[in-house]
Amino acid sequence: MRILVTGSTGQLGSALLNQLNGSDYKVKITSRRKPERIGHFEWVYSDLLSGEGLEEAVKDVDVIIHAATSPTKNSKNIEVIGFENFLGNLKHIKHFIYPSIIGIEEIPLKYYKLKYEAEELLKNSSIPYTIVRATQFHGFVENLLLSKPLFKRYVIPGRIKFQSISVDEFAKHLIDLINKGPQGRTDDFGGPVIMTLREMAELKIMVNNETNKILSISLPGKLYKSLSDGKNTNSFQKVGKITFEEYLGNKRL
Ligand SMILES: NC(=O)c1ccc[n+]([C@@H]2O[C@H](COP(=O)([O-])OP(=O)(O)OC[C@H]3O[C@@H](n4cnc5c(N)ncnc54)[C@H](OP(=O)(O)O)[C@@H]3O)[C@@H](O)[C@H]2O)c1
Repeated sequence: MRILVTGSTGQLGSALLNQLNGSDYKVKITSRRKPERIGHFEWVYSDLLSGEGLEEAVKDVDVIIHAATSPTKNSKNIEVIGFENFLGNLKHIKHFIYPSIIGIEEIPLKYYKLKYEAEELLKNSSIPYTIVRATQFHGFVENLLLSKPLFKRYVIPGRIKFQSISVDEFAKHLIDLINKGPQGRTDDFGGPVIMTLREMAELKIMVNNETNKILSISLPGKLYKSLSDGKNTNSFQKVGKITFEEYLGNKRL
């Protein structure tokens, strides 16, 4: 069976590559930049925006794990228009695995609306698929909200919630889906603990022995409310094992 991983330079793509390295699968990978270490994988340039290289990328492939994404730049053209064009090249694909995000229909973010549109395009295509929605990666929360203290303070919307996951565990889950075959929309993949951002900041300060303090702010609007209500979480699907605290601790080793 031949697997194609799109987005091979990204967070999820890199985790997939690490785990597919040494597997019995024949693996092809694609992105615009060439990953630093491609091992024995065949890398093909492709661009979801222009369509360049897509035909070559999907040639002789049975299964695709689609980890390419562009949350901010040209997002509509890549997540939806480019994605639809991409799907048009996939008549021969036996299984298309699409990682998505929990709560995309309830959280008012443009990127999430586009992910939802992409899910619908895939569902309405003739391509056998699995859609698996996940919560945010540990590194995403850390990089986006807890990376830049301002005057030694994390100024954060402390009440918003996350159920973050290890990207490595999610990558393993996606690879395990290859053998299961197309599942349609399958169970969500959530992290082991639901925490407020304030609690996550407290953990980061503790684990890293930081002197930073926390200034928790409230924000108006539906986005803040939906995240404070935990619409991006699923308490019935605490599938991941590695907690945010363990993730931080492992980074220090
Ligand atoms: N991050 C999270 O917390 C999270 C949580 C749940 C689900 N997910 C989902 O997991 C998937 C992967 O997310 P990620 O965080 O790993 O993304 P990422 O780190 O931003 O990586 C995005 C990848 O897409 C590629 N890419 C960007 N623009 C492209 C284009 N025009 N044509 C072809 N490739 C392009 C990038 O490579 P080049 O720039 O080299 O082309 C990169 O390899 C997404 O579907 C996302 O919605 C993410």
